Amino acid sequence: MSERLIEALGRLEYRGYDSSGVATIFEGELHRRRAEGKLGNLKTRLKEAPLSGTVGIAHTRWATHGAPTECNAHPHFTDGVAVVHNGIIENFSKLKDALAEVGAKFQTDTDTEVIAHLLTKFRRDGMGCLEAMHAMLKCVEGAFALAILFEDDPATIMVARNGPPLVIGHGDGEMFLGSDAIALAPFTNDITYLNDGDWAVVGKTSVQVFDIEGNVVTRPRHISLATADLVGKGNHPHFMEKEIYEQPEVIARALGHYINVNDSHVTTTSTDIDFAGVESLAISACGTAYLAGLIGKYWFERYARLIVEIDVASEFRYREIPLSPRSAALFISQSGETADTLASLRYCKAHGLRIGAVVNTRESTMAREADAIFPILAGPEIGVASTKAFTCQLAVLAALAIGAGKARGTITDDEEQVLVQSLATLPGVMRQVLNDITPEIELLSRELSHYRDVLYLGRGTSFPLAMEGALKLKEVSYIHAEGYAAGELKHGPIALIDENMPVIVIAPHDRFFDKTVSNMQEVAARGGRIILITDETGASMSKLPTMHTIVLPDVAEIIAPMIFSLPLQLLAYHTAVVMGADVDQPRNLAKSVTVE
Ligand code: M6R
Repeated sequence: MSERLIEALGRLEYRGYDSSGVATIFEGELHRRRAEGKLGNLKTRLKEAPLSGTVGIAHTRWATHGAPTECNAHPHFTDGVAVVHNGIIENFSKLKDALAEVGAKFQTDTDTEVIAHLLTKFRRDGMGCLEAMHAMLKCVEGAFALAILFEDDPATIMVARNGPPLVIGHGDGEMFLGSDAIALAPFTNDITYLNDGDWAVVGKTSVQVFDIEGNVVTRPRHISLATADLVGKGNHPHFMEKEIYEQPEVIARALGHYINVNDSHVTTTSTDIDFAGVESLAISACGTAYLAGLIGKYWFERYARLIVEIDVASEFRYREIPLSPRSAALFISQSGETADTLASLRYCKAHGLRIGAVVNTRESTMAREADAIFPILAGPEIGVASTKAFTCQLAVLAALAIGAGKARGTITDDEEQVLVQSLATLPGVMRQVLNDITPEIELLSRELSHYRDVLYLGRGTSFPLAMEGALKLKEVSYIHAEGYAAGELKHGPIALIDENMPVIVIAPHDRFFDKTVSNMQEVAARGGRIILITDETGASMSKLPTMHTIVLPDVAEIIAPMIFSLPLQLLAYHTAVVMGADVDQPRNLAKSVTVE
C-alpha cells in the first residue's frame, strides 16, 4: 500500500513541496511516517520502518502556516483521526482558540491541525464519523481538499473539496483519491471530479457524494486522458532544459489547432465566444501566464481594436471591476487550477460574461467551468519555471487576436494572411535560434552568475517580455531581477545603474527601436553594463558598446515575443545551473498554486 501511495506522490512531485508523509490503518490502528525535504527522505523512513495496511492517505506539503518541519508535515493525527489537507483554513486561529479552551492540545504550527481536533471533538461529543465530518465542514472557512481516516471506520476514507482540486478514481475492487488524474493514471483513468462544496465517503468499491447541505448528489464519471507514462527528461539534465528545446514541436502542434497554413487563415476553434460582437475583453492570470496575457492585450488592441482590461488575478478578483455582460473574459493558466485565476473566472461568470479558458490541462477546473476552451497543447510542463507553456500561450493568443480582428473587420483578408504566414514560420525559426545561440548563452551565464541584481528593459510587447525574463531569472537562479518599460527608466530605476548592474535590453528592430536605443544610451552614460538582445537589423544599427549582444534573425513583429523569449529562458536556465540551483524545483515555489 505505502509503495503505491509513494509512487502517486512521486507523480505529483513536480508541483513543488517541502515535506511529505503517509498514514495507513493497520489492525485497527493509525500509523504514519513523515519526513522533511524530498520524497527520498520519506522513502528512507519507510525502508527503515515499513507501513502495512490496505487503506491509506499520503501528502506532499508546501508550507503555508508553520515551517517545513517533520512535525508540521501531514498527515496530522489527533485521537483516532488522520488528516491530509491542501489549501488554507482561513479561520483556523479562531477555531484553535476555541478548541484549546475545551482541552485540545496542538502539536503543530499548521492551520490544518484544527480539522483533526474538530473531528475528534465531535466524535467525543457522540457524533458518528459522517455526522462529525459534516459538522466540521460547517465550521471551517477557506480552501481545502481533504482526505481523512477515522480509526474506528477503517474501511473508508472521507474527502471534501472547496477550491483545490480533488479527484476520485474507480478501480477494479479498489478506489483511489488524488489531487489530479495524473497521480492516479497508473491505477485507473475512470475518474469522478468533485465540485466545490462536495464531500464524499469512499469505500473499497463505492463512493457516496454529498453537497454542502448533506444531500446525496451524483457526479458523473469521466474517462481521463492523463497518461500513466511518467514524463522523462530525455537526454536533458533538467525538465526546464528539455521543455525549452521542445518548443518548436509543441508550438507547431498548438498552431496547427488554430491556423490553416494552406490558406493562411485562422481556423474557427470555438463558436462559444463571439469576438465580433463583444464590447471589450477582460484578461486575468498569474505569474508567467499574466505576462502572456499582457502581450495578448497589445495584440487584441492592435489587431482586433478591442478594449482589454487585464490584471493579475489576485487583484482582479477583488477590484470590483464594473463588467458588462456584453464583454468576454479570457483566463490564462497552464495548470487550469490556480486559485486566484479560478476565482476571477467565477467572478466574471457571475457577471454574465462569456468565459474562455486558455489552458494546458484540458481536464482542469477552469476548462470545465469555461464556455470555451482554448487548449495551448504544450504537453505536460514539469519544470516549475514555465517556458513552453508561455510561448504556446502566446501563440494561441496571437491566433485568437488575429481571428478576432478578422471577425470584427479590423484587419483585412490580406493582413490576416500575412500575420498567419508569419506565425507559421515560428517552429522553424525557433529551432534555428535554439541551435545558434546556446553556446554563447552558456558563456554569458557564467558572467551573469556573478551579479546580484539585473534589470530588464523593453518597449511594446518587449516590456512584458522584460518582466518575464526577470521573473525567469529570479525564480530559478535567485538573482534579484526586475523588468521595466524602457520608457520608465528615467522615472526611478536609473538611480540603480552602475557597473554592478547588468541591464538586459530587449530591442527587436521594430517601431520602438530608436527610443529603446536612447534609453540604452542613458544606461551606458552611467556606466551600466548592457546585454543587448536584438535582431540582425538592430545589431547593424546600434553602435553602442555592450557587455554582450545576442543577435537573433529578423522576424515579423507578431512572432518576435516568442523568438525573443528563447534567449531569456536559456539565460535564466544556464545561470541557475552554473550557480548550482535546483532548477526544476526552485525553493519555495509550487507548480500549481491552489491557495490564495
Ligand atoms: O498554472 P498557471 O499558469 O495558472 O500558473 C501561474 C503561475 O503560478 C506561473 O506562471 C508561475 O509564475 C511560474 N512559476 C512562472 O515560471
